[in-house]
Amino acid sequence: MAIVIIRQDNKIDSWKKALKANAPDIPIYSYLEEHPKEEITLACVWKQPVDSLTQYPNLKCIASLGAGVDFIFKDQSVPENIPITRVVDPVLASDMSEFVLALILNYFKNLNNYRTDQMKKVWYPQEYKRISDVTVGIMGMGALGEKLAEDLIKNRFEVIGWATSPKNIPGVEVYNGDKEKNTFLSRSNILVCLLPLTRQTTGILNNKLFKELPKQSYVINVARGGHLVDEDLLEYINNGHLAGAGLDVFHEEPLSVEHPFWTHPKIHITPHVASVSDIESVIPQLLENYGRLKEGLPLNNAVNREKGY
Ligand code: GLV
Repeated sequence: MAIVIIRQDNKIDSWKKALKANAPDIPIYSYLEEHPKEEITLACVWKQPVDSLTQYPNLKCIASLGAGVDFIFKDQSVPENIPITRVVDPVLASDMSEFVLALILNYFKNLNNYRTDQMKKVWYPQEYKRISDVTVGIMGMGALGEKLAEDLIKNRFEVIGWATSPKNIPGVEVYNGDKEKNTFLSRSNILVCLLPLTRQTTGILNNKLFKELPKQSYVINVARGGHLVDEDLLEYINNGHLAGAGLDVFHEEPLSVEHPFWTHPKIHITPHVASVSDIESVIPQLLENYGRLKEGLPLNNAVNREKGY
C-alpha cells in the first residue's frame, strides 16, 4: 500500500514532506517521480492531469485535497468505481467564513473605493451600510455554509440559508429546494454562493436568479466560476439592479486579462484565495482514511457520486 500525490502547482513537495513527517512508515510519492504504480492505493489529488488516475491498478480511493471535487468528475478518464473523498476541515471552514466576512464589511464601508481614491489623492466621503441594514442569504448549507452562518450571526447579521434538502441550523431559517428558492432570494440583500458545482448548480447564478434578489443586492461567489453566468452578472450590475459583486472564482483561472471583470468598478475580484486547504490540518484526515482503507472500514467524508459532492 502506498500514497501518490497528484497536483500540477508548486505545492506537491510541501504535501509530500508533511505526509512523510506524519507517517514515516508509509511510502509516499509525487506522481512526477518514478513510483511503483501497482502499490498505490490512495491518490491525493488537486486538479490532476487528465489520464493520470488510470495508471493505478490497485487504487482504492481518490482523495481531493480540497473541499471541491468537481475537477475529479470533469476528468472523464477517472475510473468510475473508485470511492472519492473530499476535505471537510474546520480550518477550511473558518478561513472561508473570515474571507466572506471581510468581503461584506469591505463592501459596506467602501474600503476599496477609498483605496482607489487614496492613490489619486481624492477626499470623497460616501454613505456606508450597517450590519442591521441587511439579510445575508447563503446558498449551500454544507460545512462551509453552516460555519459562515454561525460566524455571521455572532457578528449580529440576520442570516437565511438555501439548501437542496431540509436542514436544521440554529438561528437560521433554511429554505429548501426549487419551490422555496424565490422566497429565499427575495430576502437576500447579500447573496453568498457556497454550493458544490454539479450538473444542477452549473450556471445557477444567472439573470433569472438575479431578478428575484431585492434591488441593490450584492453577490458573492466563493464557490466555483461555473456557478456564474458572467454576462448575466454584468447585465444586472450595469442595469443597476445589483449593487456589485465579490468574486473569488472564475470559469478560467487565472482570469483572462481580456475579461471585463478586471476593470469593472463594482466588481471586486480576488485570485481564488478565499479558503485554501491547510496542509497540517488536512493530513490527519488523509492518514485516517488511509488506515480505514487498510482495515476495510468505511471512508470518512466520502463523496456521493450521484449527487456530485
Ligand atoms: C477550494 O476551492 C476547495 O475546493 O477547497
